[in-house]
Amino acid sequence: MTLAGAHELIFLKLGGSLITEKTRAHTARRDVIRRSAREIVAARRENPRLHLLLGHGSGSFGHVAAHRYGTRHGVRTEDEWLGFVEVWKEAAALNHIVLEELLEAGLPAIALPASAAVTANNGQVAQWNTTAIRCALEGGLLPVIYGDVIFDEARGGTILSTEDLFAYLAIELKPQRVLLV
Ligand code: IPE
Repeated sequence: MTLAGAHELIFLKLGGSLITEKTRAHTARRDVIRRSAREIVAARRENPRLHLLLGHGSGSFGHVAAHRYGTRHGVRTEDEWLGFVEVWKEAAALNHIVLEELLEAGLPAIALPASAAVTANNGQVAQWNTTAIRCALEGGLLPVIYGDVIFDEARGGTILSTEDLFAYLAIELKPQRVLLV
């Protein structure tokens, strides 16, 4: 399935340092998220041909536990697997806040977490069935992905950032632009 040609596809990332207080663990900047949501509403209104895939970072949510357990470098021990789950929980908690604000702004946003859809091999995407993302875009929805924990055939587990995920999706979906905020 390919995306209908009449549309412009943009990948937009809201960085973790933008949407969270980087120096205070587990603290979202709701005002910034809300303003970003309103700007997305305005951009979609201005350009009805716009297809947008939104990604966001983890900032002071996922990064704290990710550093403590070294999750990106691999997950083997029981303790490291507990860390993997903690990073997953933190990344998902921020995603929940982002989704609340997007939906509150009237956007048809849907979270499609990479931890449930992607597997990696040595820190690289190995498998990702992107049909759900394509269907969401075709349906006029705003699919949302984020830097997340990923099961990895070589490392046990790892972390892929929003940029890692965008890099894979860019080859699959061929966006006109990738914006990192
Ligand atoms: C980091 O993803 C993911 C986790 C630590 C869970 P990103 O690299 O996209 O996040 P930011 O923008 O650096 O916060």
